[in-house]
Amino acid sequence: MSKQPLTLYLAAPRGFCAGVDRAIKIVEMALEKWGAPVYVRHEIVHNKFVVDGLRDKGAVFVEELDDCPDDRPVIFSAHGVAKSVPAEATRRNMVYVDATCPLVSKVHVEAQRHSEAGLQMIMIGHKGHPETIGTMGQLPEGEVLLVETVDDVTTVPVRDPDNIAYVTQTTLSVDDTKDIVASLQARFPKIVGPHKEDICYATTNRQEAVKAIAPKVDAMLVVGAPNSSNSRRLVEVGSKAGCNYAQLVMRAENIDWRALEGITSVGITAGASAPELLVNEVIEAFRDRFDVTVETIETAVENVEFKVPRVLRT
Ligand code: F3S
Repeated sequence: MSKQPLTLYLAAPRGFCAGVDRAIKIVEMALEKWGAPVYVRHEIVHNKFVVDGLRDKGAVFVEELDDCPDDRPVIFSAHGVAKSVPAEATRRNMVYVDATCPLVSKVHVEAQRHSEAGLQMIMIGHKGHPETIGTMGQLPEGEVLLVETVDDVTTVPVRDPDNIAYVTQTTLSVDDTKDIVASLQARFPKIVGPHKEDICYATTNRQEAVKAIAPKVDAMLVVGAPNSSNSRRLVEVGSKAGCNYAQLVMRAENIDWRALEGITSVGITAGASAPELLVNEVIEAFRDRFDVTVETIETAVENVEFKVPRVLRT
């Protein structure tokens, strides 16, 4: 029986961003430099496939510094950590490498700078996400107020409405964040914001590519992990941009083929922590079932690269 024709629209850019690429390189180079085991505090990036691969090479993933011995190197994940974490590692004389994405570190610096200027900080982010915990942890506990929704803006208990500033998580929905910022500005006309968006280039570009594809496809698949903030946002953006069916899949085996019955076009993208290999696996799974034509929809070209820390370069 001949296969049904199907067009796959591949979003570009998709998948690994410069911060994820750097963080993975850091673990690999640390294993080369110091040998196994190298400890990693939290999943280096939110992707099981990546984490399992590094574990096979000798990385040991833990949630807290307390779970690491003093005499092995430890790496802090791309999401960033509260100030207390490197402080504790220093106190214990541990060798540590900070794989925090430079674009997250930039937000940490911003929060501190505003606080030193006497402004109370508001963070727009998701409660419990490691990046939010890390950014809020740049200042003493209770100093940064978290806002997750437009509704939160109405009740956020600021000390002085004329002396506040905000920062954001880097992987939020660009459109939802615009609404929250507009509400903050309406309630606190003097609020100080970032010079340029805290939402990073990779998050923005991946969301734009999904918006370009979503209206023309029957379904959108986002390759990524359920704990990956930017991947989950891509599913939401796909739905809001007009795609009736948008699903997050870790890999090909998670595709719900029944839900895709009768479709003739699918958009495919990948979160910033999802390797291209998993995208190819998904494409191959479609080729097994359909007569596939692949078309790439490119909405931006990325050439960002971040250096690994000096300690690993020498
Ligand atoms: Fe950095 Fe953005 Fe990637 S903050 S880790 S470049 S998703």
